[in-house]
Amino acid sequence: MKKAGILGGGQLGRMLLQAAANYPIEVHILENDPGCPAAQFCQHFTLGDIRNFDDVYQFGKSLDVITIEIENVNLEALEKLEIEGVKIFPRPHALRTLKNKIIQKQFYADQQIPSSDFVITENAISVNTYTHFLPAVHKLATEGYDGKGVQLLHDAKDLHQAFDAPAVLEKMVDIKKEIAIIIAVDEKGKTAMYAPVDMVFDNRLNLLSYQLSPAELEEKTIWKMEAIALKLVKALESPGLFAIELFLDNQGAVWVNETAPRVHNSGHHSIEACYSSQFDMLWRIMLGYPLGNTKQILPAAIVNLLGQPGYSGPAYYEGLDEVLTMENVFVHIYGKVETRPGRKMGHITILSNERQELLYRANKIKNCLSVKTSS
Ligand SMILES: Nc1ncnc2c1ncn2[C@@H]1O[C@H](COP(=O)(O)OP(=O)(O)OP(=O)(O)O)[C@@H](O)[C@H]1O
Ligand SMILES: [Mg+2]
Repeated sequence: MKKAGILGGGQLGRMLLQAAANYPIEVHILENDPGCPAAQFCQHFTLGDIRNFDDVYQFGKSLDVITIEIENVNLEALEKLEIEGVKIFPRPHALRTLKNKIIQKQFYADQQIPSSDFVITENAISVNTYTHFLPAVHKLATEGYDGKGVQLLHDAKDLHQAFDAPAVLEKMVDIKKEIAIIIAVDEKGKTAMYAPVDMVFDNRLNLLSYQLSPAELEEKTIWKMEAIALKLVKALESPGLFAIELFLDNQGAVWVNETAPRVHNSGHHSIEACYSSQFDMLWRIMLGYPLGNTKQILPAAIVNLLGQPGYSGPAYYEGLDEVLTMENVFVHIYGKVETRPGRKMGHITILSNERQELLYRANKIKNCLSVKTSS
């Protein structure tokens, strides 16, 4: 039986484990938090730091295949493991391109993939010389996640919020819609794409508020987006599963925001809504099986279950009973012991043929379900 490793044991690792249970595979997790969501039911748990060379190398050297659930991993160890014959999905060179936002933006420019214009800034002071470039968005080159490394700079009076570390300053796009496309690439270069999804954001927390799929888009916009997604993964030259975040602007143009070389929050509906989920798909790729069917069985919505502001401590899911009585509603709780304001604690998927019904239930769930503390 093949041995697979996942770097990181958060909810993505946990859902990968759930899908792995259907295949002849032994899965190992590397993570430095023994109470992490994936630790609760993985066969082999290794305590270690995914950013540390020795930890990743020692973990990986007896494995056949490795994947990641977060980009912030030790690349040098993965490069050495790849040379020694371990298969890494995505390949380390592709991860190197995407892991750092400066290199990622340069890659889009080099490959003529439409992405907003940008300049590189070394520190906060250097941003002051780009007032003519505003309104813009400042993004940390590394270490940003869930919108925490992103700062909108509308005009000169926002400049004090600029990051004091290497970053990209990119032109603010006049966004009409935020879309994500998940695309799978097998080792022979064959691809399979999921339908684009509509991501609706919570501006206050800068976190995904809900997701609707398939996205409502004109056919020509879908073609544009699919063509960009294909060109992008072709240029990356790596098998794996990729989530491409795109903007549709108010003039009808399409821009790539960013690409994640892994399973993604915007694709969780695929567990119930598609024949082959994004997690199932990644295992198929890693194990050399045929690609799965990305077709969507029913339209879906995802509501993220976030820790309620004002509550920190052991999690309690208020309103869960009511949600569990709703038809075609699927609850995913990630098993995090402690809740914190804005922390991703789970998600709920809703299926319905009627878009109005999806929106109605998504809002109902947002109102009746909340994560508080048990004491
Ligand atoms: N150039 C831009 N113009 C306008 N808005 C932007 C731009 N870049 C980013 N944003 C807004 O900021 C959000 C977060 O940006 P981005 O996706 O790059 O960051 P992130 O930290 O990787 O977030 P996440 O992990 O949630 O995907 C985007 O979803 C979008 O709403
Ligand atoms: Mg993003």
